[in-house]
Amino acid sequence: MTYVVLDNCISCKYTDCVEVCPVDCFYEGENWLVIHPDECIDCGVCEPECPAEAIKPDTEPGLEDWIKLNTKYAEIWPNITVKKEPMPGYQDMDGVEGKLKLLSEAPGEGD
Ligand code: SF4
Ligand code: F3S
Repeated sequence: MTYVVLDNCISCKYTDCVEVCPVDCFYEGENWLVIHPDECIDCGVCEPECPAEAIKPDTEPGLEDWIKLNTKYAEIWPNITVKKEPMPGYQDMDGVEGKLKLLSEAPGEGD
């Protein structure tokens, strides 16, 4: 079991989640964060910390595609462990439907 990041994180990236993860299993792309399913210990503390409600347990139905995407990008993006400013315009992007089409495959810049 793992937790997964869904598309409402895209173009928001609040990053509150990375501060609370005990095993530092978040990975950062240019405009999305993902969880490495093999590293997540399923503690659940990140889920209520996300202002965008973008983190869910994989016990919820219909998340197969999201688990695949989290796995794919966790393998190629850099680890992120320190909170940073949300993305510019995040207030307008929070809650926008169908944000997967906005996904950039580029890795995050880090700090
Ligand atoms: Fe990290 Fe726990 Fe969230 Fe998994 S459920 S990503 S271990 S905080
Ligand atoms: Fe994304 Fe929520 Fe973390 S918006 S960066 S999953 S706090």
